[in-house]
Amino acid sequence: MNVLLIGSGGREHTLAWKLTQSSKLSKLFISPGNAGTSMHGKNVSLDWRNFKELKAFLLLEEISMVVIGPEDPLVEGLHDQIISDKQTQHIFVIGPKKLAAKLEGSKDFAKEFMQKYAIPTAIYKSFTKETMDQGIRFLEDIKSPYVLKADGLAAGKGVVILDDLDQAIAEFSAMLKDEKFGEASKTVLIEEFLSGIECSVFALTDGKTYKLFPVAKDYKRVGEGDTGLNTGGMGSVSPVSFADETFMKKVETRIIQPTLNGLINEKIDYSGFLFFGLIKVNGNPFVIEYNVRLGDPETESIIPRLETDLLELFQATAEKRLDEIPIQISNQFVSSIILVSGGYPGDYEKNKLISGLNLVKECLVFHAGTKQNENQEILTNGGRVLALTAFGSSKQEALAKVYAEAEKIHFEGKYFRKDIGFDL
Ligand code: AMP
Ligand code: GLY
Repeated sequence: MNVLLIGSGGREHTLAWKLTQSSKLSKLFISPGNAGTSMHGKNVSLDWRNFKELKAFLLLEEISMVVIGPEDPLVEGLHDQIISDKQTQHIFVIGPKKLAAKLEGSKDFAKEFMQKYAIPTAIYKSFTKETMDQGIRFLEDIKSPYVLKADGLAAGKGVVILDDLDQAIAEFSAMLKDEKFGEASKTVLIEEFLSGIECSVFALTDGKTYKLFPVAKDYKRVGEGDTGLNTGGMGSVSPVSFADETFMKKVETRIIQPTLNGLINEKIDYSGFLFFGLIKVNGNPFVIEYNVRLGDPETESIIPRLETDLLELFQATAEKRLDEIPIQISNQFVSSIILVSGGYPGDYEKNKLISGLNLVKECLVFHAGTKQNENQEILTNGGRVLALTAFGSSKQEALAKVYAEAEKIHFEGKYFRKDIGFDL
């Protein structure tokens, strides 16, 4: 089977690495990919927004499956486009259609869905420019901290949590009146603040049944002890000790099954990953958000624990016979740390030479923001540069390996958090 994988991050390198272990794979293409994905397949520069160009490629290379990594193409309806064209309608697409992708693309839609199907989540109200005054009165009535969320995709920046009422009102009005996040903040949600510990739960579903993937925890803040600015993710671990059997049973019966039943009831077809961003409050799971794809950097810790052929799982998903495939998960611990460019998530420089990659023996190295120059050297090409992933019989053993190996890799400005997994 020839596969096109869309995306360019650590998630996509990890997926490319796993897919090439499948005997079902003939050719793998990654668009646009990075220096790491090119070790597993052919990077191709395609604009997925240009369907004519994409279609020509799909036909030329006889692609039979498109795996969509990031949220934007899903929310914009790439899946729908592929299967609504007569010449490409036979192609399997992993990742939901536009309507289902609204679970991530519109927080208002997701909240209404959760409310309708009694899925536990924070209480909320949503407002537009027209109802801004009611929103301000609502803020005055509730307790601090104030959670404000832009309805649409805002590259992970659309959630603001503030302690001070005046600041919250100012931010709320900047989001709505000044359209701080553009189209995404035309509707703004005000949510009850939930206090607890977070984890990421992933299910692969064909719309009828699902397979549970390993649970992970990601570390979003740039600084040790979860301080400083939010990033795309500084590391992840899997499994997560507090996501024990009792908790996961509640997650399945109160959240995953009702979500799938809700989708079926709404006649919303789904094929791909559902990512539940959860918070554990007094032992009970609440949904912070839905995503319609795998997480990054969670993928770098969960996919290595998957022992089943991923392409076989994808094929069964597309053919709606996922119930036929047993899923095997390693009981090893996996830890992943992200090496980032100095200054990230603020301004940082690119094109720094990366050395020492060939010295790493005890870790998997997944590339995120990297590229290769004409001399075959590998250069930094983003804020998050590399993920180092190791197995261990304990979390500590896995972490000891990644931290030892991280010292062997060099690039100007290299930074990483030294406390991944500290809170577990
Ligand atoms: P989101 O983009 O929805 O994942 O939100 C980003 C982060 O904001 C989450 O990972 C949480 O840490 C935090 N957050 C979002 N909603 C809430 C809430 N209702 N209560 C507490 N923290 C929240
Ligand atoms: N790690 C969170 C995300 O991928 O959105």
